[in-house]
Amino acid sequence: MDTITGTDIYLAQTLLRAGDLVAIPTETVYGLAANALNEDAVLKIFQVKNRPAFNPLIIHCSSWEKAGQYVNDVPDKAIALARAFTPGPLTFLLRKNNMISDLVTAGSEKVAVRIPKHPLTQRLLELLDFPLAAPSANPFGYISPTTAGHVMKSLAGKIPYILNGGSAGIGVESTIIGFDENEQVILHRLGGISIEAMEAVLNEPIIIASEISMTKPLVPGQLKSHYAPNTPLYTGQIEKMLPGWINKKVATISFTKQFKAVPPQQQFILSPEGSLDEAAKNLFAALRSIDQLQVDVILVEIFPNEGIGRAINDRLNRAGAAFK
Ligand code: TXA
Ligand code: MG
Repeated sequence: MDTITGTDIYLAQTLLRAGDLVAIPTETVYGLAANALNEDAVLKIFQVKNRPAFNPLIIHCSSWEKAGQYVNDVPDKAIALARAFTPGPLTFLLRKNNMISDLVTAGSEKVAVRIPKHPLTQRLLELLDFPLAAPSANPFGYISPTTAGHVMKSLAGKIPYILNGGSAGIGVESTIIGFDENEQVILHRLGGISIEAMEAVLNEPIIIASEISMTKPLVPGQLKSHYAPNTPLYTGQIEKMLPGWINKKVATISFTKQFKAVPPQQQFILSPEGSLDEAAKNLFAALRSIDQLQVDVILVEIFPNEGIGRAINDRLNRAGAAFK
């Protein structure tokens, strides 16, 4: 199969209607999209990504008006957070109705719903009379794509079309929240909307889901090892780790710092000006570039644990977990 990249939302519409897969840009990362109401199309996502079927998918709609067709009992707090942060990088786990198949939710009664903000994908979703099921457009376990080129690299020949919306503005996946029986907000995945921002809207603390199981994860983004590069990665204080790697080829990922002992082309400074937003945007592209460099090890700084910095640390810890 030839894979084409372009900006034609009508071609994307035609392919999706026919049950084909299309990679779509979002403000967080690129998604691998299929008609969420067509089980055969959704199955193709699992095949192309090599994704285990216990791992449920997010459905994407252009508006809550459309998304409302597929969910019941939306809590008041969900509405408040939706008003504040959507369209945008926040995903809601809500009770599904029977239009959404168990294949999409991996048997759960809750479906993950997201209203993405990217203008090209917004226009595409407006054209469609079905939601798009879309995980990140990477092979399972690897780094999420933030450009059309990243998608091409791993999915060329496997899907017909990549809708090119430039490089993702946020660069880490959406934050995922759910609600318990008491309408308490539970954080399932750190991401583009910070805990602090949501707590400011709710005026109360958010509970962080901590139950992690390797076989039936609450959210597979919670698998201990995920988003992993092929090169060993360690997090900590780079200056302290460097002496342990003398005579080895080292790459570094830092927030603002430069290191004299490391060749400049092996140093990835995510935001020289010290912006966590900019660092998040550059993170996955840096990990991918380093995988091409054939270094022995990636040494990574711990980022300030606030705002989107928490999501950065979360992804880096998971990227490193395979090498612990
Ligand atoms: O930013 C994003 O959320 C991107 C873009 C493409 O929208 N999507 C994304 O999808 O990151 P994915 O599949 O890579 O991660 C979605 C996470 C998975 O860890 C999945 O387990 C969780 O959402 N999830 C989806 N539906 C769920 C459900 N019903 N209950 C619990 N977790 C769910
Ligand atoms: Mg993913």
